[in-house]
Amino acid sequence: MTDHILVAVQDGVMTLTFNRPDKKNAITDAMYGVLADSLVAAEKDPAVRVVLFNSRGDSFTSGNDLSDFAAQNASQDTGARGERNVGRFLKALAHAKKPLVASVRGLAVGVGTTMLLHCDLVYIADTAKLTVPFVNLALVPEAASSLTLPSRIGHARAYAMFALGEAVDGRKAEAWGIANEALPEDEVDARALHIAQALAKRPLGALTVTKGLMRDAEQLAARMDEEGAHFAARLKSPEAAEAFAAFAQRRPADFSKVG
Ligand code: COA
Repeated sequence: MTDHILVAVQDGVMTLTFNRPDKKNAITDAMYGVLADSLVAAEKDPAVRVVLFNSRGDSFTSGNDLSDFAAQNASQDTGARGERNVGRFLKALAHAKKPLVASVRGLAVGVGTTMLLHCDLVYIADTAKLTVPFVNLALVPEAASSLTLPSRIGHARAYAMFALGEAVDGRKAEAWGIANEALPEDEVDARALHIAQALAKRPLGALTVTKGLMRDAEQLAARMDEEGAHFAARLKSPEAAEAFAAFAQRRPADFSKVG
């Protein structure tokens, strides 16, 4: 168990809070485990009608913990990504029937952005910064984002985010349909909580069928598997080793050395 994810249930809303602010809420395997277990429990628990994601500190999350990635790069273990807690978390997002709401302030890197594409309502600070820098790390998209991001914002914009690491701020996220509303940073959490509580009073049966009709969970899960196989292979690559070493040494990566 880790207290880097806080779990609370009140008024029909399960709140999952990223709580590792000194590391910009970078997500470890243990944190993915709590997120996955909580989402699975939420589906079964009649006291939970809505799940809300938010964060402590100045970032939503800086994405997967890069020292975990570096350890996987160095290890001989060839296990697919889906066997780890991150895989369980992503599948729980794909199969979630109850409404998911997110409150996003500051940085949302990698899975911090791709998980938003599985949320039903997203409230975001106008100053927030969304990035999916998988290619910067010599990796490939995950969480079915190779499907969900281009279908949400168009191929050209999605490709620029993936391939060039281009950032999208909160206002653009609203204009492009990634978020419902961009707000001043100090209003975001309260707005998201207010909406989550309002949603918790709506008829859950109608909400879950509506959500089920709006998305194809099996297709999303299948794309996660396809991406996961590539991701696991890329994690082991010399290119990725260089990217992780560069982050640890606080220097730019030099991919010319690794062909
Ligand atoms: N994994 C592990 N540690 C991370 C992290 C991550 N994803 N993101 C931030 N941290 C750590 C930093 O190493 C630093 O730790 P330290 O204080 O022990 O040195 C601390 O969090 C603060 O981060 P720092 O880089 O000093 O803050 P910043 O404001 O200059 O930059 C980021 C913030 C998020 C832009 C930068 O840390 C970054 O690029 N992180 C990697 C993001 C990433 O590529 N995620 C994976 C996506 S697939």
